[in-house]
Amino acid sequence: MKTIDELLADGVSGKRVFVRADLNVPLAGTTITDDGRIRAVLPTVEALADAGARVVVASHLGRPKGAPDPAFSLAPAAARLGELLGSDVAFAADTVGQSAQDTVAGLKDGQVAVLENLRFNPGETAKDDAERDAFADRLATLADVYVSDGFGAVHRKHASVYDLAKKLPHYAGHLISTEVGVLKKLTEDVRRPYVVALGGAKVSDKLAVIDELLGKADRLLIGGGMAYTFLKAQGHEVGISLLQEDQIPAVTEYLRRAEKQGVELVLPVDVLVSREFPDLKTKAPAEYTVVDADKIPADQEGLDIGPKTRELYASKLADAATVFWNGPMGVFEHPDYAEGTKAVAQALLDSDGFTVVGGGDSAAAVRTLGFDENAFGHISTGGGASLEYLEGKTLPGLAALED
Ligand code: 3PG
Repeated sequence: MKTIDELLADGVSGKRVFVRADLNVPLAGTTITDDGRIRAVLPTVEALADAGARVVVASHLGRPKGAPDPAFSLAPAAARLGELLGSDVAFAADTVGQSAQDTVAGLKDGQVAVLENLRFNPGETAKDDAERDAFADRLATLADVYVSDGFGAVHRKHASVYDLAKKLPHYAGHLISTEVGVLKKLTEDVRRPYVVALGGAKVSDKLAVIDELLGKADRLLIGGGMAYTFLKAQGHEVGISLLQEDQIPAVTEYLRRAEKQGVELVLPVDVLVSREFPDLKTKAPAEYTVVDADKIPADQEGLDIGPKTRELYASKLADAATVFWNGPMGVFEHPDYAEGTKAVAQALLDSDGFTVVGGGDSAAAVRTLGFDENAFGHISTGGGASLEYLEGKTLPGLAALED
C-alpha cells in the first residue's frame, strides 16, 4: 500500500488530488454535534494543500436515497473544514455535475474544495458493478490522483471508496495509515490480557466480531442493549428490554464456546430499569430503579448497567495490556443512563494498557461525555470498519489500495 508520504515526496504541486474522506458527522439540523471525523482528516488535507495540490475532498453523509436531499448536505461539514483549516474552502453543489466541474476547475494550487454528498448520486452505492463504475468514471475526470482517507467507509464497496481508487494512482492518507497500524496491534502479536468491551443496541451487528474474538480475546465484557439477549439466553426474564429473540441460539452457542475456550464472557450483574424510555430531547429526569440482572420486572426495560456491574467491568479492565471498546453500555445520551458508559471510558483512561475506542457511537460518547480524547491510546473514526477489520474480513477500500 503506497502512502501519501510517497506522493508528497514525488511532488503534487498543481495536481488535482481527490481525497475520499469520511465526513459523516452527527448533525442536529445544520449544527455539527461532533466534528471528530473532520479533524481526523486535517493532517492529510493540510499536507496536500501545503504541498500545492488542488485538493478535492469528497464524502458521504448519512444514508440519503440516491438523490439530493438538503437534510444530508455536506455544506456544514465543508464550512467546518474551512474553519479548522483557517482558509476558504469552496463547496460544489453537486457531485459530478456542472458545479463540481466548475469548482474543481477554479481551484488554484494549495486550495481545497468539498463536493456535495456522494450518496446524492445512485451510482455511489449501487450494487450493480457497471453503475458504480460509470459514476467512478465521472469522478475520475475531477482528479489526477486518489488519496484514501475515509477510514469509516473502507468497509463499503462504493464507487468513491473502491472503484475510483482503481482508476487513478492511489495512496493511503495519514488517517488510513494510523487506523490500520492500530488495528494491526489488535490482531497481530496482541499484548495480553486482551480485554474487549462490547455494547450497543443490536447483538446481530456484533455476532461476527464476537465469533472472531472468542478465539483472540481473553475477556469479553458485554453491555448495552445487546446484553439482554445474552441474559435471556441464560434463562433470565428481561422484561421489555431490547431483545433479539432470533439471535438466542447464536448467543447460547457463544456462551458455550467461551466456557470451552477459557474466554471469560462477562455479563451485567445489575441494571438500571424503568417503565419508560427516557426523553432524549428534554433530558427530563428519569424514573428508574436498580435491580439484579436476573430480576428485571416483566413490565420494565434495562437502560444502563448498574453500579455493581460498573465496578466489576472496571476491575476486569484494570490489568488489561490491550483494550478494545465498541458500543455504549446504556442510553448514554440521557444523563441518568450515562454512568455505565462513563465507567468504561474511565476504566480505559485508568488503564496502563493500549486502549482503543472503536467507532462512531463510542467515540462520540467519549467526546460528548467530556473525556479528553487525547488520553486514550486511539479513538477510531470507524465503527463498522474497525469491527469488520477485527472480524478478519477483507475491506474493499483497503484492498483497492493494495496493488
Ligand atoms: C459510519 O458512520 O460508520 C461510516 O460513515 C459509514 O457509514 P454507513 O454505515 O452509512 O456506510
